[in-house]
Amino acid sequence: MCGIVGYIGPREAYPIIIEGLKRLEYRGYDSAGIALFDGNDLKVAKTKGKVVDLEAIVEKEITTNGKVGIGHTRWATHGVPNDVNSHPHVSNSGNLAIIHNGIIENYESLKQELISRGYTFKSDTDTEVLVNLIEDVQKQQKLKLGKAVQAALNQVVGAYAIAVFDKNKPDEIVVARLGSPLAVGIGPKEDEFFIASDASPFLEYTKNVVYLEDEEMAVIRFHKPIKIRKIEDDSLVDTYVQELQINLEQIEKGGYDHFMLKEIHEQPKAITDTYRGRLVRNEAIIKMAGVEDNMKRFLNANRIIIVACGTSWHAGLVAEYIFEDLARIPVEVEYASEFRYRNPVITENDVVIAISQSGETADTLAAIKLAKSKGAFVFGVCNVVGSSIARESDAGAYTHAGPEIGVASTKAFTTQITVLTLIALRLARAKGTISSSDFRTHLLELEMIPKKVEKALESDANITTIANIYKDVSNFLYLGRGYNFPVALEGALKLKEISYIHAEGYPAAEMKHGPIALIDENMPIVVIATKKGHYEKVVSNIQEIKSRKGKIIGIVTEGDTQVRALADHVIEVPDTLESLSPLLTTIPLQLLSYHIAVMLGKNVDQPRNLAKSVTVE
Ligand code: G6P
Repeated sequence: MCGIVGYIGPREAYPIIIEGLKRLEYRGYDSAGIALFDGNDLKVAKTKGKVVDLEAIVEKEITTNGKVGIGHTRWATHGVPNDVNSHPHVSNSGNLAIIHNGIIENYESLKQELISRGYTFKSDTDTEVLVNLIEDVQKQQKLKLGKAVQAALNQVVGAYAIAVFDKNKPDEIVVARLGSPLAVGIGPKEDEFFIASDASPFLEYTKNVVYLEDEEMAVIRFHKPIKIRKIEDDSLVDTYVQELQINLEQIEKGGYDHFMLKEIHEQPKAITDTYRGRLVRNEAIIKMAGVEDNMKRFLNANRIIIVACGTSWHAGLVAEYIFEDLARIPVEVEYASEFRYRNPVITENDVVIAISQSGETADTLAAIKLAKSKGAFVFGVCNVVGSSIARESDAGAYTHAGPEIGVASTKAFTTQITVLTLIALRLARAKGTISSSDFRTHLLELEMIPKKVEKALESDANITTIANIYKDVSNFLYLGRGYNFPVALEGALKLKEISYIHAEGYPAAEMKHGPIALIDENMPIVVIATKKGHYEKVVSNIQEIKSRKGKIIGIVTEGDTQVRALADHVIEVPDTLESLSPLLTTIPLQLLSYHIAVMLGKNVDQPRNLAKSVTVE
């Protein structure tokens, strides 16, 4: 994954790069580094740890003046996180500095070739191989940096977003992209350029951005308009400058202690933004251009295959219930990473829905490329506008959740479910599998969900008390049935991700086929037991837990008495339709994991070993 930042222009580069790296830490945070040209020489500082650790060593080790520079925050793939493996990497001559996000797959053979020509390597990284390959090409073929980068990249197999500069020609930075995102911000006077993995590092400087496409590169020069070329044959491509629609406040904490908490509380607004203009209750219609324009593909589909990873995969599982229940279309939900490697049977009559918050997850992207190559129609459900999956899909619908910074996904999940519910309802209407009164009821209930989420958030104090009681346990079990089985999986994932407590999600009835053996008086079990949908069956499961002395935390419908009488604790959520209940039952589970993690002193927004956007397989 990794986050990359670069600057070239009239301002001091250092503060722009450091602040930019902090915004990109969601992409990885096991080491960080910076390279600046101070007017005379190349200055490099790097360290294991976070960007704040980098700041501390920069102050001791290098001068920070310079108008050109690059910086990197890393999520290790090749080589353990340590100072030496951190980026930027410098070529053997000391002239070239590079930052890289991605993986060079054939780096070992390239490295051997370079070693045979006298190159030496300090790190275990594929990136140090790439910078020396560029240097080697530059020397052998007497090429300018841009051409040398191009020639080197044509020898490379793998994925990359890179920025590289030469201290002997510090008025240009060369950037290139294949498989990893790269945005170039163009200063308002067109005399400065910002390079980054996404636009967040340069939002306060410019709203004009160019997203490089795969297999494209550019030599970015002071005061020169940006020209983008194809890496393969040097042909010029049109430069499409977009105007960013997000603002700085959206990517700041806004008074909350953590981004995760802010994003949990943003869900009422995010869900409203997601259905706004699509759900038109007065006219009893759903308007979604991506669905409307491709209605035939949807209606003729043999089945829908949903591909996704992580939390997005859980949203896909909820969608399986909704599509089958409402629109009567068979659905399969696949981990993108498994789907792409198991020779799946895909036909032209399949619709593949790819769900991804970032729109950059490498496995999901590869899965949709595979599906497209087999003729399937690919529909993307992404949050990040203009992301790779959004662009690669045949059609799609954005979730309008706004930027999600916390690594543990929250508002992305509920807005994905919102979009998928809208699609299922639209298709159900078109197929006639839902009556007009049921359709209206769904629209009405969906419109009321944001208010009900607000109500669910009011249980925060109760949840904090429960968190305090169970924060020191080693295991948690989460149970749910039907629509709420995926919510149980998501609740367990949230707890694992940020508190490092082992947790498993299970269908409540499956418990007796294994997990029941784990239950004793030390095991807390979160049971989603809302009134609509298998309530009596879940109550029986609760009885089974109780007779084995497990501690029961029930997620119940407001006013419930039956589960309250059996459970050790209950957390109430407002009543709604069973199909919409995941949008409410997931809220207390997010808050429970958040409070436990905070009480344990964990880094909620940047949990160990994780990254927000996984752009490697
Ligand atoms: C990472 C994140 C998860 C996320 C998953 C899929 O593992 O830490 O929160 O659910 O990637 O990401 P996507 O951007 O495709 O939804």
